[in-house]
Amino acid sequence: MSIDHPNFGKLADDRVIIFDTTLRDGEQSPGFSMNLQEKLRMAEALTELGVDVMEAGFPIASPGDFESVKAIAELYAQGGPVICGLARTGRDDILRAAEAVKPAQRKRIHIFLSTSPLHMKYKLRMEPEQVLELTVNSVTLARQHADDVEWSAEDGSRTEPDFLCRCVEAAIAHGATTINIPDTVGYALPEDMERIFTMLRNRVPGAEKVIFSTHNHNDLGLAVANTIAAIRAGARQVECTINGIGERAGNAALEEIVMAIRTRPDSVPCKPAIATQNILKTSKLLSTITGFDVQPNKAIVGRNAFAHESGIHQDGVLKNAATYEIMTPESVGWTKSNLVMGKHSGRAAFRDKLRALGYGEIGDNKLNDAFRRFKDLADRKKAVYDEDISALVDDEVMRDNNRIKFVSLDVRAGSKTPPTAVLELEVDGTLHTATATGDGPVDATFIAIRSIFAHDATLRLYSVGAVTEGTDAQARVTVRLEEGGKMVDGQGADTDTIVASARAYIHALNKLLVKRTRTEPAALSA
Ligand code: KIV
Ligand code: ZN
Repeated sequence: MSIDHPNFGKLADDRVIIFDTTLRDGEQSPGFSMNLQEKLRMAEALTELGVDVMEAGFPIASPGDFESVKAIAELYAQGGPVICGLARTGRDDILRAAEAVKPAQRKRIHIFLSTSPLHMKYKLRMEPEQVLELTVNSVTLARQHADDVEWSAEDGSRTEPDFLCRCVEAAIAHGATTINIPDTVGYALPEDMERIFTMLRNRVPGAEKVIFSTHNHNDLGLAVANTIAAIRAGARQVECTINGIGERAGNAALEEIVMAIRTRPDSVPCKPAIATQNILKTSKLLSTITGFDVQPNKAIVGRNAFAHESGIHQDGVLKNAATYEIMTPESVGWTKSNLVMGKHSGRAAFRDKLRALGYGEIGDNKLNDAFRRFKDLADRKKAVYDEDISALVDDEVMRDNNRIKFVSLDVRAGSKTPPTAVLELEVDGTLHTATATGDGPVDATFIAIRSIFAHDATLRLYSVGAVTEGTDAQARVTVRLEEGGKMVDGQGADTDTIVASARAYIHALNKLLVKRTRTEPAALSA
């Protein structure tokens, strides 16, 4: 098999394309929404990681989604990963996706349509022949706007085999270049994947001209296993997300798929073009942006993924790491925590450190703000680690265009006095001050925020974690707010837990303000 693909040219048999959908399938899950800046930041990290295709969003879903796909496409006007926009089969969807991805040098339109009996009957209320007709019309239209068109059979794993073959044949005949078979509801087993892809490659006329793609959800915890089974049966594109985020139980995790392939070439003889040493950094950036840390035992990127607790294991690893490690921690970006700089470090050293941590070029204003906070941190904290710098800069950089800005906070608390917070915020450039008491210092602080910026949002989650170890560690706080069914998460980091809480609340509030201007995303249905 040697496919001549519009964006990838002659594809070697062992090449596997990594299609990242963190910014689309991942972002659409509750609590994981990102603003434009955060998406751009994530897009840069994904590019450094080496993903081949970046599904940047679902442009018809809202003006905000359209703008972010377009902004990412503009970022890659001179080259970079293939930028993909999702669309249902309607004309408006396809034209909107085409317009959003247009600035990218390498672009793709991704159309999806349900093909399973259940979805056709209850969701689409269509006969199979109508679905076939929509497939033909939508792929034809999309091909008028992009050379690279992906067609997905939503709920493909539960689709009747003969009908799936007919749909795939029609999509190929009308110009689809990638055929994706999603396990939309995470129902399939690895043997189903093997059967489906083997069948399609053997039975469908034109199958040799396209790339087959697999897209697996994790409802039964089998997303990665199903992905590997699909590759073994001939799929050459895998759709996945960082940390496995996505609808419900999530999508197949990019880092797990890539490292499974790298670790077991005997069984999966394929080559993903991923810079694996950037995996951890990308995973952490996503956690910082979304406020969701991965669980400690998460494969590859969890805090315990390379930690050896038992004496027998430790002894083995000291003698030869391969005794209990199937890949090196360094190969995915783990390094020993670096003691970086102290209060005497200068701005130039700080800028160099940021570059080394993968922040690229930061504008002077942002650099000055981050540097001021670093100095402040270095005064309060004995040792400043890479993780501290990342937490602090992420905290600063994410807040660029925010309407509400934290200025200062003074809190009195203890067993004798009622907790009181004196808070200063800048709202649309004007300084406001409020004093409030509450059931604790955090409560008093949140009441003060409300009295400066009145709102109806309900606090749904408040959680505190530590960035590093020790009692002087920075606290990383996540606050979830809900307003009118819209949910947002904000993060804040500081050595003072109450200040971190205020920052997190304000971050969430700013996100809510962005959301208010966004129309509700259209339901993901064709
Ligand atoms: O899970 C799914 O079916 C999808 C499609 C839009 C590809 O995400
Ligand atoms: Zn999906």
